[in-house]
Amino acid sequence: MKILVTAGPTREPIDAVRFLSNRSSGKMGYAIAVAGKARGHSVRLVSGPVCLLPPQDIELIRVTTAEEMLKAVLENVAWCDALVMAAAVADWRPARYVPDKLKKTAMKPVLQLEPTPDILMCALAHKGRRIFVGFAAETADLLTEARRKLIQKGLDLVVANDVSRRDAGFECDTNQVTFITREGEIIAFPLLMKSDVATRIIMWLEERAARSGLSAAP
Ligand code: PMT
Repeated sequence: MKILVTAGPTREPIDAVRFLSNRSSGKMGYAIAVAGKARGHSVRLVSGPVCLLPPQDIELIRVTTAEEMLKAVLENVAWCDALVMAAAVADWRPARYVPDKLKKTAMKPVLQLEPTPDILMCALAHKGRRIFVGFAAETADLLTEARRKLIQKGLDLVVANDVSRRDAGFECDTNQVTFITREGEIIAFPLLMKSDVATRIIMWLEERAARSGLSAAP
């Protein structure tokens, strides 16, 4: 299978030295890319700015902003059999970018924000028979919100994680996830290493590809 994975945060610049972003370390997405490669698949990894070493033998496409991540996904989606969006894309960006460093004055700056493009929604037009997996990062109403995103974003699988936990979600090496499939199946996993969560996602993709007549072979 050809698997396109996104990982890490995006950064939305405010001025020459400041940006809006979030807490994603990239660990979850990189683990998915590595697990896909380890199981013999071709993997392309679109990564926001992270401090992780580039995984071996995986094509790495580095991006910074949501707009750049969108471009990279749209350029590569036709290549893939499966898209896994583990990236934590910033939902808003400053409406105005100041190319110089804003001076610290007595006046409090007011940031006007505008929404970034929703990458999954934009990729939906190119879905065809491809398998789309998204994540839902929630702090409340985990399964309800995850199900809403599954439907709204036209996903085959949503991986729900509670990002208010210290041992799950952002930055840590473990995660506790629940899979919700398009058909309504719910599979709750115990707390696992992110590498194990990643392998479960790749195995789910393999099964799904085999069932839908796509070649699940590497
Ligand atoms: O990187 P780590 O530190 O290891 O942390 C892992 C993680 C918490 C980032 C990861 O497990 C995770 O939950 N990733 C998705 C984070 C997120 O943005 O979730 P969301 O519920 O806001 O978005 C839902 C889905 O839409 C996601 O698949 C997201 O990639 C996608 N999205 C979101 C915004 C946007 N503008 N475009 C998108 O495609």
